[in-house]
Amino acid sequence: MTKAHELRVQETPLAPFGRLVTADGPADLRDIAPATLERWTVESKVVVLRGFPLLDKEDLVDYCAQWGEILHWDFGAVLDLVVQEDPKNYLFSRTDVPFHWDGAFAKTAPRYFLFQCVEAPVAGGGGETVFSDSVEVLRRTPEELRREWAGTQVTYRTEKLGYYGGETVSPLLAEHSETGETILRYGEPLDPAKYKNPVWVDIAGKSGADAEAFMTDLRDRMHDPEVCYHHEWQDGDIVAVDNQALLHGRNAFRGNSSRHLQRIQIL
Ligand SMILES: [Fe+2]
Repeated sequence: MTKAHELRVQETPLAPFGRLVTADGPADLRDIAPATLERWTVESKVVVLRGFPLLDKEDLVDYCAQWGEILHWDFGAVLDLVVQEDPKNYLFSRTDVPFHWDGAFAKTAPRYFLFQCVEAPVAGGGGETVFSDSVEVLRRTPEELRREWAGTQVTYRTEKLGYYGGETVSPLLAEHSETGETILRYGEPLDPAKYKNPVWVDIAGKSGADAEAFMTDLRDRMHDPEVCYHHEWQDGDIVAVDNQALLHGRNAFRGNSSRHLQRIQIL
């Protein structure tokens, strides 16, 4: 196929990590070879594309299918993340979403996921997606604690209220399939007093105050502003994410602001 135009982009580094790619002239996501987008995503961990018109769901699936196998759920391949009035699952609520990696309860966790922003919250309306660079967290963690983490298994339990749930056990540290780097795989607990669908987290070999202290330390390291990129959504943003190097969550919405994202996951 001959391209009607040559893609021109401007690249800007985001802080403390990430890459903003802005189209300079007419553009289409499909002008970027999936292998190129994958390389950018592994290099920068999060890639924000601006000035690329959103694809309809079918075209998005076709594009991502060239990148890798798509993770399918009961609802299909593309999840519409919208704020609901009376949601069963906190993902669709107005609360924050604590850090996690996608696919903890799936057979295989996706390597990447991609968001399209159909409707961003109003300015100041919250709902930013927050990414924590787990490779950097590990780099900053003392060797002794890293060794303890390396031998730690974590159990997650949640009721299936939505499209995922059950019980799963995961080592706290894993290896990035593309870079070979050590990554942190951790989902923060969801307190039943605050969230509609709590997630209980058990650290093998720890209980009571010990487990509490272990999780508080982990939380502080993951939330260190120096390892976190906060993405403020704009209409039309397309964001590709390395689901292995990063953990992610969401800030609560403020006022009655709303948001509509579409998400697709690549195995
Ligand atoms: Fe997620």
